[in-house]
Amino acid sequence: MRKISLALALLLAPALAQAWPWSQDMANQVSIKPQESVDPANPGMVPFPKRSIPVPGTMTLVPDAAAAEKLKNPVPATEESIKKGGELFAIYCVPCHGKAGKGDGYVGHKLILQPYDLSADQTKQRTDGFIWGYITFGGAVMPIYGNDLNPTERWHVVNYIRNVIEKPQAAPAEAKK
Ligand code: HEC
Repeated sequence: MRKISLALALLLAPALAQAWPWSQDMANQVSIKPQESVDPANPGMVPFPKRSIPVPGTMTLVPDAAAAEKLKNPVPATEESIKKGGELFAIYCVPCHGKAGKGDGYVGHKLILQPYDLSADQTKQRTDGFIWGYITFGGAVMPIYGNDLNPTERWHVVNYIRNVIEKPQAAPAEAKK
């Protein structure tokens, strides 16, 4: 019996380990990453060549949540951006944070640490960069979404939180139907 349960545990272990979005073992290689410097004297990000323009969706090296907090939101909160953000929010955030962002999603219910209410004052007082960083790097329990949403998409989600989740009176077009 013991042998069988040990064998079962061994069989299941890799399946469980790979189920999590933060299993990025294959990404942790010695190869040079996009925009990574190859000059040991100048580590960090390679400066963009002169006259180059940024491409939306290109990952830039923001090292951690503390650095992200200071970022300025480069994506104007146009109707289009908010709409895109809403679509992404429905896919990636609603399961835990709920439709209105109150932290009452079906999956969130099952967590030891309940998802925060994103319409509460605490989040309202955060910078746009903080929210962008939270999506990028995750939290204690909240998974990392930096692999699923490109940087521009994350700003769309921020615009949606700012303009719809935090302002329920300005109901989303969908709710007005
Ligand atoms: C698996 C469940 C889960 C999903 C999915 C999820 N979150 Fe969270 N989120 C949490 C939990 C739990 C917390 C509480 C803090 C922690 O885990 O560190 C949290 C906290 C946050 C916070 C911190 C709020 C504050 O003011 O401190 C932000 C911002 C946030 N989530 C945004 C998002 C966004 C945007 C998405 C979608 C891209 C998302 N979350 C998806 C579980 C989730």
